[in-house]
Amino acid sequence: MKLQLRFLPFLALAILALLFAMWAGLLRMGWTLPTFDNLAIAHGPLMVSGFLGVLIPLERAVAIRQKWMFGVPIIAGAGWVSLFFAPPVGAVLLTLGSLGMLAILGVMVKREPHIHTITMGVGALAWVVGNFLWMMGFPIFQIVFWWMTFLVLTIGGERLELSRVLKPTLGQIRLFSLVAAALVAGAILATFDLNSGSRLGGAALLGLGFWFLRYDLASRNIRHPNPLTRYIAICLFGGYFWLVIAGGLFLYLGALYAGPFYDAALHAVFVGFVFAMIFGHSPIIFPAILGAQIKFYPVFYAHLILLHLSLVTRVIGDLTNQMEIRKWGGLLNETAILLFLALTVFSIVKGSKE
Ligand code: HEM
Repeated sequence: MKLQLRFLPFLALAILALLFAMWAGLLRMGWTLPTFDNLAIAHGPLMVSGFLGVLIPLERAVAIRQKWMFGVPIIAGAGWVSLFFAPPVGAVLLTLGSLGMLAILGVMVKREPHIHTITMGVGALAWVVGNFLWMMGFPIFQIVFWWMTFLVLTIGGERLELSRVLKPTLGQIRLFSLVAAALVAGAILATFDLNSGSRLGGAALLGLGFWFLRYDLASRNIRHPNPLTRYIAICLFGGYFWLVIAGGLFLYLGALYAGPFYDAALHAVFVGFVFAMIFGHSPIIFPAILGAQIKFYPVFYAHLILLHLSLVTRVIGDLTNQMEIRKWGGLLNETAILLFLALTVFSIVKGSKE
Protein backbone atom coordinates (compact mmCIF):
# COMPACT_ATOMS: atom_id res chain seq x y z
CA MET A 1 0.00 0.00 0.00
CA LYS A 2 1.39 3.40 -0.96
CA LEU A 3 1.76 6.20 1.59
CA GLN A 4 -0.34 9.31 0.91
CA LEU A 5 1.54 12.24 2.31
CA ARG A 6 -0.82 15.08 1.46
CA PHE A 7 -2.44 15.07 4.90
CA LEU A 8 0.92 14.80 6.64
CA PRO A 9 1.22 18.57 7.38
CA PHE A 10 -2.11 18.39 9.27
CA LEU A 11 -0.94 15.38 11.20
CA ALA A 12 2.34 17.16 11.96
CA LEU A 13 0.35 20.08 13.39
CA ALA A 14 -1.35 17.68 15.81
CA ILE A 15 1.85 15.83 16.78
CA LEU A 16 3.72 19.10 17.32
CA ALA A 17 1.01 20.24 19.73
CA LEU A 18 1.39 16.92 21.55
CA LEU A 19 5.16 17.41 21.86
CA PHE A 20 4.78 20.96 23.24
CA ALA A 21 2.04 19.72 25.59
CA MET A 22 4.31 16.95 26.89
CA TRP A 23 7.15 19.42 27.43
CA ALA A 24 4.70 21.63 29.36
CA GLY A 25 3.47 18.56 31.29
CA LEU A 26 6.99 17.84 32.53
CA LEU A 27 7.36 21.45 33.66
CA ARG A 28 4.06 21.16 35.53
CA MET A 29 5.34 17.96 37.17
CA GLY A 30 8.31 19.84 38.56
CA TRP A 31 11.07 18.69 36.19
CA THR A 32 13.64 21.44 35.59
CA LEU A 33 13.70 22.12 31.87
CA PRO A 34 14.19 25.14 29.63
CA THR A 35 10.94 27.00 29.10
CA PHE A 36 9.35 30.11 27.61
CA ASP A 37 6.41 32.39 28.40
CA ASN A 38 2.94 30.80 28.46
CA LEU A 39 4.22 27.24 27.88
CA ALA A 40 3.51 25.52 31.22
CA ILE A 41 0.08 27.09 31.61
CA ALA A 42 -0.92 25.98 28.12
CA HIS A 43 -0.46 22.25 28.89
CA GLY A 44 -4.15 21.31 29.25
CA PRO A 45 -5.44 23.37 26.27
CA LEU A 46 -2.53 22.11 24.13
CA MET A 47 -3.40 18.48 24.86
CA VAL A 48 -7.18 18.73 24.58
CA SER A 49 -7.74 21.43 21.96
CA GLY A 50 -4.32 21.49 20.29
CA PHE A 51 -3.38 17.84 19.81
CA LEU A 52 -6.82 16.18 19.89
CA GLY A 53 -8.58 19.29 18.59
CA VAL A 54 -6.55 19.00 15.38
CA LEU A 55 -6.47 15.19 15.13
CA ILE A 56 -10.17 14.46 15.63
CA PRO A 57 -11.57 16.92 13.01
CA LEU A 58 -8.77 15.89 10.65
CA GLU A 59 -9.88 12.27 10.85
CA ARG A 60 -13.47 13.34 10.14
CA ALA A 61 -12.47 15.64 7.26
CA VAL A 62 -10.44 12.87 5.60
CA ALA A 63 -13.39 10.46 5.95
CA ILE A 64 -16.05 12.86 4.62
CA ARG A 65 -13.87 14.78 2.12
CA GLN A 66 -15.69 18.10 2.06
CA LYS A 67 -13.07 20.79 1.51
CA TRP A 68 -14.28 23.28 4.14
CA MET A 69 -13.85 20.64 6.83
CA PHE A 70 -10.07 20.82 6.46
CA GLY A 71 -10.34 24.43 7.67
CA VAL A 72 -11.26 23.13 11.13
CA PRO A 73 -7.92 21.49 12.02
CA ILE A 74 -6.18 24.54 10.53
CA ILE A 75 -8.10 26.93 12.81
CA ALA A 76 -7.44 24.71 15.83
CA GLY A 77 -3.75 24.54 14.79
CA ALA A 78 -3.53 28.34 14.50
CA GLY A 79 -5.24 28.45 17.90
CA TRP A 80 -2.72 26.34 19.77
CA VAL A 81 0.25 28.15 18.18
CA SER A 82 -1.29 31.51 19.21
CA LEU A 83 -1.49 30.36 22.83
CA PHE A 84 2.25 31.08 23.13
CA PHE A 85 2.19 34.60 21.67
CA ALA A 86 -1.30 35.89 22.32
CA PRO A 87 -3.25 33.55 24.64
CA PRO A 88 -6.62 35.38 24.29
CA VAL A 89 -6.40 35.08 20.48
CA GLY A 90 -5.52 31.40 20.91
CA ALA A 91 -8.61 30.88 23.07
CA VAL A 92 -10.85 32.56 20.46
CA LEU A 93 -9.40 30.47 17.61
CA LEU A 94 -9.71 27.23 19.57
CA THR A 95 -13.34 28.08 20.34
CA LEU A 96 -13.92 28.72 16.62
CA GLY A 97 -12.23 25.40 15.87
CA SER A 98 -14.60 23.60 18.23
CA LEU A 99 -17.56 25.32 16.53
CA GLY A 100 -16.19 23.99 13.23
CA MET A 101 -16.07 20.50 14.73
CA LEU A 102 -19.70 20.90 15.79
CA ALA A 103 -20.57 21.84 12.20
CA ILE A 104 -18.82 18.69 10.95
CA LEU A 105 -20.84 16.64 13.41
CA GLY A 106 -23.98 18.45 12.21
CA VAL A 107 -23.29 17.04 8.72
CA MET A 108 -22.65 13.57 10.14
CA VAL A 109 -25.81 13.51 12.25
CA LYS A 110 -27.89 14.71 9.28
CA ARG A 111 -26.46 11.98 7.09
CA GLU A 112 -26.75 9.25 9.67
CA PRO A 113 -28.98 10.12 12.63
CA HIS A 114 -27.89 7.28 14.89
CA ILE A 115 -26.95 6.97 18.52
CA HIS A 116 -23.22 6.96 17.67
CA THR A 117 -23.27 10.20 15.63
CA ILE A 118 -25.54 11.89 18.18
CA THR A 119 -23.15 10.89 20.98
CA MET A 120 -20.22 12.38 19.07
CA GLY A 121 -22.32 15.48 18.32
CA VAL A 122 -23.01 16.00 22.03
CA GLY A 123 -19.26 15.50 22.61
CA ALA A 124 -18.47 18.25 20.09
CA LEU A 125 -21.04 20.53 21.74
CA ALA A 126 -19.35 19.91 25.09
CA TRP A 127 -16.04 20.99 23.56
CA VAL A 128 -17.63 24.23 22.31
CA VAL A 129 -19.14 25.01 25.73
CA GLY A 130 -15.90 24.18 27.57
CA ASN A 131 -13.82 26.31 25.23
CA PHE A 132 -16.29 29.18 25.35
CA LEU A 133 -16.32 29.25 29.17
CA TRP A 134 -12.51 29.00 29.25
CA MET A 135 -12.26 31.84 26.71
CA MET A 136 -14.54 33.89 28.99
CA GLY A 137 -12.06 33.41 31.82
CA PHE A 138 -13.42 30.43 33.78
CA PRO A 139 -10.56 28.51 35.48
CA ILE A 140 -9.74 25.15 33.87
CA PHE A 141 -10.62 23.13 36.98
CA GLN A 142 -14.19 24.40 36.67
CA ILE A 143 -14.68 23.62 33.00
CA VAL A 144 -12.51 20.53 32.71
CA PHE A 145 -15.56 18.23 32.88
CA TRP A 146 -16.71 19.79 29.60
CA TRP A 147 -13.39 18.83 28.00
CA MET A 148 -13.59 15.34 29.50
CA THR A 149 -17.16 15.01 28.17
CA PHE A 150 -15.89 16.02 24.72
CA LEU A 151 -13.25 13.31 24.65
CA VAL A 152 -15.23 10.58 26.41
CA LEU A 153 -18.32 11.01 24.21
CA THR A 154 -16.30 11.41 20.98
CA ILE A 155 -14.45 8.18 21.69
CA GLY A 156 -17.60 6.57 23.12
CA GLY A 157 -19.54 7.41 19.93
CA GLU A 158 -16.77 5.89 17.85
CA ARG A 159 -16.90 2.71 19.92
CA LEU A 160 -20.69 2.51 19.53
CA GLU A 161 -20.19 2.76 15.78
CA LEU A 162 -17.54 0.05 15.70
CA SER A 163 -19.56 -2.20 18.02
CA ARG A 164 -22.71 -1.98 15.88
CA VAL A 165 -22.13 -5.52 14.63
CA LEU A 166 -23.09 -6.70 18.12
CA LYS A 167 -26.54 -5.12 17.63
CA PRO A 168 -26.99 -3.60 21.12
CA THR A 169 -30.48 -4.01 22.57
CA LEU A 170 -32.78 -1.05 23.19
CA GLY A 171 -32.20 -1.49 26.92
CA GLN A 172 -28.43 -1.24 26.49
CA ILE A 173 -28.76 1.88 24.33
CA ARG A 174 -31.12 3.46 26.86
CA LEU A 175 -28.71 2.73 29.67
CA PHE A 176 -25.83 4.22 27.67
CA SER A 177 -27.87 7.36 26.87
CA LEU A 178 -28.81 7.78 30.52
CA VAL A 179 -25.20 7.60 31.73
CA ALA A 180 -23.97 9.87 28.91
CA ALA A 181 -26.69 12.38 29.84
CA ALA A 182 -25.51 12.20 33.46
CA LEU A 183 -21.99 13.07 32.26
CA VAL A 184 -23.29 16.16 30.49
CA ALA A 185 -25.38 17.05 33.55
CA GLY A 186 -22.22 16.69 35.67
CA ALA A 187 -20.36 19.15 33.40
CA ILE A 188 -23.25 21.65 33.61
CA LEU A 189 -23.47 21.30 37.39
CA ALA A 190 -19.69 21.56 37.86
CA THR A 191 -19.75 24.98 36.17
CA PHE A 192 -21.86 26.30 39.08
CA ASP A 193 -21.19 23.85 41.90
CA LEU A 194 -17.89 22.07 41.40
CA ASN A 195 -18.37 19.61 44.23
CA SER A 196 -21.77 18.22 43.21
CA GLY A 197 -20.89 18.38 39.50
CA SER A 198 -17.65 16.43 39.99
CA ARG A 199 -19.48 13.73 41.96
CA LEU A 200 -22.23 13.39 39.39
CA GLY A 201 -19.68 13.42 36.54
CA GLY A 202 -17.62 10.84 38.47
CA ALA A 203 -20.65 8.56 38.84
CA ALA A 204 -21.27 8.90 35.09
CA LEU A 205 -17.65 8.05 34.20
CA LEU A 206 -17.90 5.02 36.45
CA GLY A 207 -21.13 3.96 34.74
CA LEU A 208 -19.72 4.47 31.25
CA GLY A 209 -16.59 2.49 32.14
CA PHE A 210 -18.69 -0.46 33.33
CA TRP A 211 -21.01 -0.16 30.33
CA PHE A 212 -18.10 -0.41 27.90
CA LEU A 213 -16.42 -3.22 29.85
CA ARG A 214 -19.66 -5.17 29.60
CA TYR A 215 -21.05 -4.32 26.15
CA ASP A 216 -18.20 -3.14 23.90
CA LEU A 217 -16.87 -5.34 21.13
CA ALA A 218 -13.61 -5.44 23.11
CA SER A 219 -15.06 -7.98 25.55
CA ARG A 220 -15.63 -10.37 22.62
CA ASN A 221 -12.24 -9.81 21.02
CA ILE A 222 -10.02 -10.13 24.05
CA ARG A 223 -9.20 -13.75 23.11
CA HIS A 224 -9.41 -13.22 19.35
CA PRO A 225 -6.99 -15.41 17.32
CA ASN A 226 -5.87 -12.41 15.21
CA PRO A 227 -3.02 -10.71 17.14
CA LEU A 228 -3.91 -7.16 16.01
CA THR A 229 -7.61 -7.57 16.90
CA ARG A 230 -6.59 -8.99 20.27
CA TYR A 231 -4.13 -6.13 20.87
CA ILE A 232 -6.82 -3.52 20.09
CA ALA A 233 -9.26 -5.23 22.47
CA ILE A 234 -6.67 -5.25 25.25
CA CYS A 235 -5.96 -1.53 24.69
CA LEU A 236 -9.67 -0.77 24.95
CA PHE A 237 -10.13 -2.89 28.05
CA GLY A 238 -7.33 -1.04 29.85
CA GLY A 239 -8.88 2.29 28.86
CA TYR A 240 -12.29 1.32 30.27
CA PHE A 241 -10.65 0.18 33.47
CA TRP A 242 -9.10 3.68 33.89
CA LEU A 243 -12.49 5.27 33.24
CA VAL A 244 -13.83 3.30 36.22
CA ILE A 245 -10.87 4.41 38.38
CA ALA A 246 -11.31 8.06 37.33
CA GLY A 247 -15.05 7.88 38.01
CA GLY A 248 -14.44 6.39 41.46
CA LEU A 249 -11.90 9.13 42.29
CA PHE A 250 -14.18 12.01 41.24
CA LEU A 251 -17.15 10.42 42.98
CA TYR A 252 -15.22 10.01 46.21
CA LEU A 253 -13.16 13.23 46.18
CA GLY A 254 -15.68 15.73 44.77
CA ALA A 255 -14.34 19.21 43.97
CA LEU A 256 -10.68 19.30 42.90
CA TYR A 257 -8.81 22.51 42.05
CA ALA A 258 -5.11 21.59 41.68
CA GLY A 259 -2.50 19.32 43.21
CA PRO A 260 -1.93 15.56 43.37
CA PHE A 261 -5.55 14.34 43.70
CA TYR A 262 -6.53 16.60 40.80
CA ASP A 263 -3.61 15.19 38.81
CA ALA A 264 -4.61 11.57 39.56
CA ALA A 265 -8.31 11.91 38.71
CA LEU A 266 -7.76 13.99 35.56
CA HIS A 267 -5.03 11.86 34.09
CA ALA A 268 -6.82 8.58 34.83
CA VAL A 269 -9.15 9.90 32.10
CA PHE A 270 -6.70 11.80 29.91
CA VAL A 271 -3.76 9.39 29.94
CA GLY A 272 -5.36 6.10 31.10
CA PHE A 273 -8.51 6.22 29.01
CA VAL A 274 -7.74 8.61 26.15
CA PHE A 275 -4.25 7.36 25.34
CA ALA A 276 -5.14 3.68 25.69
CA MET A 277 -7.91 4.38 23.17
CA ILE A 278 -5.50 6.22 20.88
CA PHE A 279 -3.09 3.27 21.05
CA GLY A 280 -5.96 0.90 20.24
CA HIS A 281 -7.44 3.04 17.47
CA SER A 282 -4.15 3.93 15.80
CA PRO A 283 -4.45 0.95 13.39
CA ILE A 284 -7.70 2.63 12.24
CA ILE A 285 -6.76 6.35 12.48
CA PHE A 286 -3.37 6.34 10.75
CA PRO A 287 -4.31 4.16 7.77
CA ALA A 288 -7.34 6.46 7.24
CA ILE A 289 -5.19 9.61 7.22
CA LEU A 290 -2.04 8.30 5.55
CA GLY A 291 -3.52 5.58 3.39
CA ALA A 292 -0.96 3.19 4.85
CA GLN A 293 -1.50 -0.06 6.66
CA ILE A 294 -0.14 -0.50 10.17
CA LYS A 295 1.67 -3.77 10.47
CA PHE A 296 1.28 -5.30 13.92
CA TYR A 297 4.37 -6.26 15.91
CA PRO A 298 4.14 -7.87 19.37
CA VAL A 299 6.53 -5.12 20.59
CA PHE A 300 3.44 -2.80 20.53
CA TYR A 301 2.68 -4.26 23.94
CA ALA A 302 5.80 -2.45 25.22
CA HIS A 303 4.26 1.03 25.00
CA LEU A 304 0.90 -0.22 26.21
CA ILE A 305 2.32 -1.93 29.30
CA LEU A 306 4.61 1.05 30.00
CA LEU A 307 1.64 3.43 29.76
CA HIS A 308 -0.37 1.50 32.34
CA LEU A 309 2.50 0.77 34.72
CA SER A 310 3.73 4.38 34.64
CA LEU A 311 0.22 5.67 35.25
CA VAL A 312 -0.22 3.32 38.21
CA THR A 313 3.10 4.70 39.54
CA ARG A 314 1.97 8.29 38.99
CA VAL A 315 -1.41 7.77 40.64
CA ILE A 316 0.15 5.99 43.63
CA GLY A 317 2.63 8.91 43.95
CA ASP A 318 -0.30 11.34 43.77
CA LEU A 319 -2.52 9.57 46.26
CA THR A 320 0.30 9.04 48.78
CA ASN A 321 1.69 12.55 48.23
CA GLN A 322 5.13 11.29 47.14
CA MET A 323 6.12 13.85 44.55
CA GLU A 324 9.30 12.07 43.38
CA ILE A 325 7.30 8.96 42.48
CA ARG A 326 4.67 11.08 40.71
CA LYS A 327 7.39 12.90 38.74
CA TRP A 328 8.85 9.64 37.49
CA GLY A 329 5.41 8.29 36.67
CA GLY A 330 4.72 11.38 34.54
CA LEU A 331 8.07 11.12 32.77
CA LEU A 332 7.44 7.45 31.98
CA ASN A 333 3.91 8.27 30.73
CA GLU A 334 5.57 10.46 28.16
CA THR A 335 8.19 7.82 27.37
CA ALA A 336 5.33 5.42 26.57
CA ILE A 337 3.73 7.99 24.24
CA LEU A 338 7.05 8.67 22.46
CA LEU A 339 7.67 4.93 22.10
CA PHE A 340 4.18 4.56 20.63
CA LEU A 341 4.89 7.31 18.09
CA ALA A 342 8.25 5.79 17.13
CA LEU A 343 6.86 2.27 16.73
CA THR A 344 3.87 3.54 14.75
CA VAL A 345 6.12 5.41 12.30
CA PHE A 346 8.33 2.33 11.99
CA SER A 347 5.32 0.09 11.33
CA ILE A 348 3.79 2.45 8.75
CA VAL A 349 7.06 2.85 6.84
CA LYS A 350 7.62 -0.91 6.87
CA GLY A 351 4.00 -1.60 5.90
CA SER A 352 4.16 0.85 2.99
CA LYS A 353 7.16 -0.96 1.50
CA GLU A 354 5.42 -4.34 1.39
C1 HEM B 1 1.51 12.48 29.19
C2 HEM B 1 1.94 12.99 30.28
C3 HEM B 1 1.30 14.12 31.04
C4 HEM B 1 1.90 14.79 32.04
C5 HEM B 1 3.31 14.57 32.55
C6 HEM B 1 0.96 15.76 32.55
C7 HEM B 1 1.15 16.61 33.63
C8 HEM B 1 0.23 17.44 34.21
C9 HEM B 1 0.38 18.12 35.44
C10 HEM B 1 1.57 18.01 36.38
C11 HEM B 1 -0.74 18.85 35.65
C12 HEM B 1 -1.05 19.73 36.86
C13 HEM B 1 -1.74 18.93 37.92
C14 HEM B 1 -1.72 19.66 39.23
O1 HEM B 1 -2.43 20.68 39.37
O2 HEM B 1 -1.00 19.19 40.12
C15 HEM B 1 -1.61 18.63 34.54
C16 HEM B 1 -2.85 19.20 34.37
C17 HEM B 1 -3.63 18.97 33.30
N1 HEM B 1 -3.43 18.06 32.28
FE1 HEM B 1 -1.84 16.88 32.04
N2 HEM B 1 -0.21 15.67 31.83
C18 HEM B 1 -0.03 14.69 30.89
C19 HEM B 1 -0.98 14.28 29.96
C20 HEM B 1 -2.16 14.93 29.73
C21 HEM B 1 -3.09 14.60 28.67
C22 HEM B 1 -2.90 13.45 27.68
C23 HEM B 1 -4.11 15.48 28.74
C24 HEM B 1 -5.32 15.61 27.88
C25 HEM B 1 -5.64 14.85 26.86
C26 HEM B 1 -3.83 16.38 29.86
C27 HEM B 1 -4.65 17.42 30.26
C28 HEM B 1 -4.46 18.16 31.40
C29 HEM B 1 -5.38 19.19 31.86
C30 HEM B 1 -6.67 19.62 31.16
C31 HEM B 1 -4.87 19.68 33.04
C32 HEM B 1 -5.47 20.78 33.91
C33 HEM B 1 -4.71 22.03 33.59
C34 HEM B 1 -5.00 23.18 34.54
O3 HEM B 1 -5.82 23.07 35.48
O4 HEM B 1 -4.36 24.21 34.31
N3 HEM B 1 -2.65 15.99 30.43
N4 HEM B 1 -1.00 17.74 33.66
